[in-house]
Amino acid sequence: MLNCKEAIEKRRSIRQFEDKAVAPEILEQIIEAARLAPSGTNRQPWRLVLLATPEERQRIAGSVMQPFVCEAPAVFVCCLDREAFVRVTVEKRMNELVEAEVITREAAQYIYQRKMPEKTEEVIIPDSGYLDLGITIQNMALMATALGLGSCWVRLFDQQGLHQALNLPANILPVVLLPVGYPAQDPPPRPRLKRDEIVLEI
Ligand SMILES: Cc1cc2nc3c(=O)[nH]c(=O)nc-3n(C[C@H](O)[C@H](O)[C@H](O)COP(=O)(O)O)c2cc1C
Repeated sequence: MLNCKEAIEKRRSIRQFEDKAVAPEILEQIIEAARLAPSGTNRQPWRLVLLATPEERQRIAGSVMQPFVCEAPAVFVCCLDREAFVRVTVEKRMNELVEAEVITREAAQYIYQRKMPEKTEEVIIPDSGYLDLGITIQNMALMATALGLGSCWVRLFDQQGLHQALNLPANILPVVLLPVGYPAQDPPPRPRLKRDEIVLEI
């Protein structure tokens, strides 16, 4: 297993996979990496659908623009759950943090006073929800690399079409696909900005 630095450096977007199944225990380790991610008010809004058979992957084939996605031996549909953002759920999580003395009652009050949706149907996912999901997906991608697998973040898909194809509940919003498998390519690193281009002087 690679360490954190090695996994960060070795990870690439992999778009070609070996025709070799990934053992369920390995996929479970990737799910566990997702589960452990941090999130705003610990609301954990991520939900995952694992497409582990060719039949399951075929269901989304009409909604993805890049064929390699469904050719991977496993595809995680990474979703947000609107229910995690309604007042009752946020307050429950917030109270847990207050009880654990992680945040003060005053800080919690500040959040409670915010305008918050009361019903799931009213939820417009806040930016911070996408941050939460991003962290969980990167945890998964790095764990996949550490275990010798490859993956690729994929946003290029028809969200509504895929929602229908998988018959997902209305509160579940598919945001990113993460195909995972043993890499059949070894791409060079993609170019990155230099250190001084990303660290701003003030
Ligand atoms: C939010 C996000 C969306 C992406 N969507 C796609 C996609 O739809 N299809 C694809 O082939 N790659 C996609 N990528 C992969 C990027 O193209 C890739 O990360 C970038 O070119 C850097 O290459 P690397 O991941 O190999 O370092 C996405 C990456 C991110 C983070």
